[in-house]
Order: sequence, then C-alpha cells, then structure tokens
Amino acid sequence: MTNKTSPHLVHIETFGCQMNESDSELVRSLLKQDGFAFTEDRERADVMLMNTCAIRENAHNKVYGHLGELQAVKKERPLVVGVLGCMAQSLKDELTKKVPLIDVLAGPDAYRQLPMLITNALQAQEQGFAKKAFALDLSEYETYEGVLPDRDGGVNAWITVMRGCDNFCSFCVVPYTRGRERSREPQSVLAEAQQAASLGYKQITLLGQNVNSYRSGDWDFARLISAVADTPGIERVRFTSPHPKDYPLPLLTAIAAHPKICKHIHLPLQSGSDRILDLMGREYTAADYSRLVDQIKGMIPDIVLTTDIICGFSTETEQDFESTCRLVEQTRFHSAFVFAYSERKNTIAARKFEDDIPEDVKGERVKRLVELQREIGGARNREYLGQTLSVLVEREATRSPDKWMGKTDGNIAVIWDKSLEPLQPGMLTNRRITDSSVAALFAE
Ligand code: SAH
Ligand code: SF4
Ligand code: F3S
Repeated sequence: MTNKTSPHLVHIETFGCQMNESDSELVRSLLKQDGFAFTEDRERADVMLMNTCAIRENAHNKVYGHLGELQAVKKERPLVVGVLGCMAQSLKDELTKKVPLIDVLAGPDAYRQLPMLITNALQAQEQGFAKKAFALDLSEYETYEGVLPDRDGGVNAWITVMRGCDNFCSFCVVPYTRGRERSREPQSVLAEAQQAASLGYKQITLLGQNVNSYRSGDWDFARLISAVADTPGIERVRFTSPHPKDYPLPLLTAIAAHPKICKHIHLPLQSGSDRILDLMGREYTAADYSRLVDQIKGMIPDIVLTTDIICGFSTETEQDFESTCRLVEQTRFHSAFVFAYSERKNTIAARKFEDDIPEDVKGERVKRLVELQREIGGARNREYLGQTLSVLVEREATRSPDKWMGKTDGNIAVIWDKSLEPLQPGMLTNRRITDSSVAALFAE
C-alpha cells in the first residue's frame, strides 16, 4: 500500500468451510505483505472483505444480509467492499446486478491479485469515482506455494494440501467455484508443519476439498499424513474433507498405526439409497459404504465416525429416505450434519433433474433424521462414561469462563472445571468422563 504513515485497515469476515478459514489466512498474509493492516472493528475499517460460501441457498442469504448492512455504512463514509470466495466465483453477474456497492470480486484462485485490486479501488475512491475490479480466473496450478498463512492463534493450524475437486457430484457447486484438483509439493507442506510446530501449534489439520485424493509424484495422502504426524512438537493431526472413494489400505493402516493421527474419520454418506447415490454421482453403493465402515471399525476399534447427509434430493422417495435412516442406524455415527437439498445453478442436477421434493417434505425428513441421530449420538457419548480420555485443551468454554473446553482424539468436546488443575490451551490432559450429552462430554 502507498500510505506509509497510517496503513489502510481491512476487516475480513469468513463464511463457509474450513477451506475458507484457511484461505482467509492466506488473504491476510498477502495483504499484510503489501502494507495493509487488519482490524476486528468494523467501524474502523476502510476495506470490508467477505469470504463467501455458495454451498446452499442459506449460505447466499447470509452474505446478502451482510451486504445489505454495508449499504447503509457506505452511504455515510468511504468504504471499499470486496466479495471473495465461492459465491464471488459462481455468482458474478447476480452479485454485481443485485449489489451495486461491491467494488472488488475475487475468486479462490485470484487472491494474489487482491492487494492490487484493493489499492486501485481505494485510489479510485479517493479521486471520487467508483471503479469495479474483478479477478475470477480459475487456475490449474495455483496452490499459493510460498505464501505463509497469517494464522489465527489457538491450538490448531490449518494446512491446505490440495485444492479443487474433480468429482462433480451432481448436487455440488464446489467443482465450479474451486476448479480442478491440484496438490502441493510434499516438502513445502512438511516445512509449513515444522513452522507451525515452532510457533507452538499442537495440532495440524490437513485440508482439501478432497483431501485424501492428494497426490504429488509418488507421494499419496497416506505418506503425506504420516510424515506430517512425525513433525516434532505436533501432538495431533486431523484431516478434512475426505471422499469415501479414497480410503486405500495404506491410509487406514496409517491412521490405525500412527499415535498422532487422530482416530476420527469424517465420511460423507449423502444418502443410503443406491438409486439416489447413483443420481448424485457418488461412485459408491450403500453396500460399498458399509463395507468400508466395517473395515474401518475392524482396523480401528475406537474410531469416531461422523458424516454429512442430504435429505430431499431430486426424486427421493420415502423408501429412499428410509434406506438412509437404516444405514445411519447401522453405522451408529457419533454425529452427522444433515442438510435439506438446495439446488445450485449450473450443477449437473440443476441441468438434468427436477428439484421436485417440496420444501416441507425436505424439512420434515431433516427433522426425523436429526432426531434419530440425536438418539444414536447421545448413546455413543454415554459409552465414554467412566473412561479416562486424553484431551487437548483448546479454550475457555463458551459462556463459562470458569470451565475449559478441550477435544478428545476423536474430536468430541469435553468440558470441565478450571479449578481442578492449572492448565493452558495446547496442553494434553487425562480426564475421567462423568457425564455426557449429545454434543459434549463432561469430566472431572
Ligand atoms: N468434499 C466433501 C463435501 C464438501 S461440501 C465431500 O465430498 O464429502 C459439505 C457438505 O455439504 C456435503 O457433504 C453435502 O452433504 C453438503 N452439500 C453439498 N452440496 C449441497 C447441496 N446442493 N444441497 C445441500 N447440501 C449440500
Ligand atoms: Fe462436492 Fe462431491 Fe467434490 Fe465433495 S466430492 S466437493 S460433494 S463435488
Ligand atoms: Fe462453501 Fe466453497 Fe467451502 S462453497 S463449503 S466455502 S468450498
């Protein structure tokens, strides 16, 4: 930035998945290198950025809500408004038509251009005219190699190891907002892991839209995660979001064998009906999925399994839905994210199928499945009563400053009284579980 005495202040708001959290850390790093400073205080910001998500309609609505608020602010003082991320990438025309106040749009592969775009917008504003600037090219290569994320602090460091998705599940917008799959060099991932450890981070979460499709030369995901888990100083390694098609034996063996790779697998099911799975283009059947679950449970008995499910996809019958419920009962997930199907423009499903399940039916199925999963999740958490578990202290419990919140190896929240023992975030502690709910465990 040009103004050396008082740098322009940027406020960034992040929506969507962990990938967006991680991208916002890259954006902060890129802008700080260029002389910008960041503020938590929206009132003081010269530049407001929103890193957006496009996965479901309610993600759009949240962003439109925030943009509506900015409209009023921008009438009162100079402000550069930038929309980043998946919605910027997929909705350029709609966004610019509906929301004239946007100055800058940048998609997930265009963040290196952001300092220049914002500088231009600020200069134009100072000269009294508005100049819109868009950078929306998707790249086959961009992995932000060499950009060290400006991390948030805390106990966890995100490391993005691959970007993009080539699966084109028929319901999903991600392949259009994030482009093609590409993986980073293993050596740069390992260097970043070491750097995070030297800054005091105790946990690393490897990220990618299809993180277990990672491949670079003869490095596959099993080799990468094992090498990251060998980083001195790192206590735990997690990964998300994986696809059920990429669980070769070496990866399961690595998870089973390496004490620092967490025994938690998020395994998005989407549906338990073969007909619907086929329409979704998921490339597995309910039986394939069950076989994988059995194999995982056989190799890693204390595994925590979580999932994502969509209710009310095109043509889903009551019978299809019941197949999903049966698979959920059989698998006994620790927890599940359950979504009503939300048709996304230009996806395969939007082009080929009708969004024919009424919203109230979708909603009713979501409710029934959430109820079912609550019972199962509650029962699974009760299994820990009386056990002593290793817990990584994360932070003060929300709304209870006298309690700590930490996570088990399986990623389940544990809450206990601070007065029991002097501890700090980032420390591992053994806690005996005395009570449980659907969402958390309570310890002494
Ligand atoms: N890459 C991950 C999914 C990322 S999106 C995977 O393949 O599993 C996170 C979740 O959002 C998905 O698992 C799916 O359950 C949900 N989702 C994606 N598109 C959706 C849509 N159009 N409507 C409702 N839920 C959707
Ligand atoms: Fe979307 Fe499927 Fe890719 Fe996951 S694997 S991001 S659901 S297209
Ligand atoms: Fe949303 Fe993009 Fe992540 S659509 S879920 S922010 S990859």
